[in-house]
Amino acid sequence: MRVMLFSSFIFIIWAIDTPLDAYAANADVQQNSDSLLCRRCGHDITYTAKLDNRASKLALRQRNDTILGVQQCLVQLFRNPQGQHFELITVTSANIKPHGEAFEEHSWFPGYAWRLAVCPQCGAHVG
Ligand SMILES: *[C@@H]1O[C@H](CO)[C@@H](O)[C@H](O)[C@H]1NC(C)=O
Repeated sequence: MRVMLFSSFIFIIWAIDTPLDAYAANADVQQNSDSLLCRRCGHDITYTAKLDNRASKLALRQRNDTILGVQQCLVQLFRNPQGQHFELITVTSANIKPHGEAFEEHSWFPGYAWRLAVCPQCGAHVG
């Protein structure tokens, strides 16, 4: 699972279309729970109350989905410079650990820098 950390909000990688990375790259929804969990270790990453739809003009595709019982969550598809596709949801905060430096180039949200974020428990990429 990979999360993009921005200055004022966070992107959680909801799904990735590369099978090799899928194990580490997806957020997992636990049934009957309002937590979004790290797929690798089960650590609580964020909660339904933190969901916050932020549209980007650079999204390849946008759709409304029901996530954790919350209807009309914006799920957006992006492609990174390496050609990998990611579906992202946006939240106002999450239990993640920033990793590495922030970059302005290749931002999916113009005006915002981004950096990798990892699960604080197992180190899996979550955004
Ligand atoms: C999601 O639903 C809202 C409210 O009905 C609508 O305004 C919006 O256009 C929808 N977005 C997509 C990507 O379908």
